[in-house]
Amino acid sequence: MTTIGTTTLGSSLTVSDMGFGAMAFAPSYGGTDSETALATLHHTVDIGVNFIDTADVYGDGDNERLIAQFLKDRREEVTLATKFGILRDPGARREGGASARGDRAYVHTAADASLRRLGIDTIDLYYMHRRDTSVPIEETVAAMGELVAAGKVRHLGLSEVTAEELRAAHAVHPISALQSEWSIWSRDVEARIVPAAAELGVGFVPYSPLGRGFLTGTITDFESLGPNDFRRRLPRFADGALQRNSGVLDAVKAVASEVGATPAQIALAWLYAQRTEFGLSVVPIPGTRRAERVDENVGALDIELNEAQMAVLNSALEHVEGERSLHPHWVSQGRES
Ligand SMILES: NC(=O)c1ccc[n+]([C@@H]2O[C@H](COP(=O)([O-])OP(=O)(O)OC[C@H]3O[C@@H](n4cnc5c(N)ncnc54)[C@H](OP(=O)(O)O)[C@@H]3O)[C@@H](O)[C@H]2O)c1
Repeated sequence: MTTIGTTTLGSSLTVSDMGFGAMAFAPSYGGTDSETALATLHHTVDIGVNFIDTADVYGDGDNERLIAQFLKDRREEVTLATKFGILRDPGARREGGASARGDRAYVHTAADASLRRLGIDTIDLYYMHRRDTSVPIEETVAAMGELVAAGKVRHLGLSEVTAEELRAAHAVHPISALQSEWSIWSRDVEARIVPAAAELGVGFVPYSPLGRGFLTGTITDFESLGPNDFRRRLPRFADGALQRNSGVLDAVKAVASEVGATPAQIALAWLYAQRTEFGLSVVPIPGTRRAERVDENVGALDIELNEAQMAVLNSALEHVEGERSLHPHWVSQGRES
């Protein structure tokens, strides 16, 4: 039985060593019914994974409403993170037909709406989901700081910001957590953002730590993805890229069989190894609809990879085909280069 300890993000936000990505219940990758979702959430918190990640945009508010049902009885056991800033806008030409908003008035409106949907008084960790490049980040973060002062939010986080944006934000109000994509096949953040977070004492919350499911080895063919599955549109899955990325998976599977673990566990263990590599707090938030996969994923906390195994996993990067995002400027990668 794995012991799940705690990690502190920033100066004082203490969370379980592994979090849980509740987007798994939203339609993005197929979705599930609320009964299954609630059962998975109960199991997740029962075993000690109590850092739950959602966003106002997941299921257009439905994901927060679902979490509200869970929080009714178990609010005190959970560290709840949600996000604002992505708007569904069919006319927008950003990823998935979305655009970003970060002006002061919007930050306040969005927070009040999330609190209402979640049925709680305070959000433990409130992230800016995407940067609205038409608004200075200082304005957005100052507004988020006002939410802290008003007692509506406890800690602040940012998602997909550049190192420079992180520094500017942190100077306005302490940032506890940075949530960006980081995994064996998405490593652009290592160049500047991860070192900046380490220097500032900001914790890192890698999203899509299992490569949106790819690194688990269970997505064997493109046609198995449902017709509305968001991954169908991503450059690493579409137009045969899924098959051509098999070299990445070969490396993960080779280490998995040597260690006697599953590919998902190896992908997560690789992220935990980055704690010592870069000297910062790392708390991944894998998402799954299935309770038994939460058990499997926490098993990563028992795995220590040796140097040779890390070298094999690090070499997987050579085999990655396709950008991690539909539009690189939608994430930090496009603005860093
Ligand atoms: N800040 C952002 O912009 C952003 C972007 C994306 C995601 N996120 C957050 O990060 C969380 C995680 O990212 P993600 O959902 O994109 O990707 P992920 O955690 O890398 O992968 C999720 C996928 O892996 C599958 N999976 C999970 N554990 C598995 C296991 N042990 N074996 C086989 N398959 C497994 C799940 O399928 P099943 O459900 O079928 O198990 C799901 O389709 C999200 O839930 C969300 O909260 C944030």
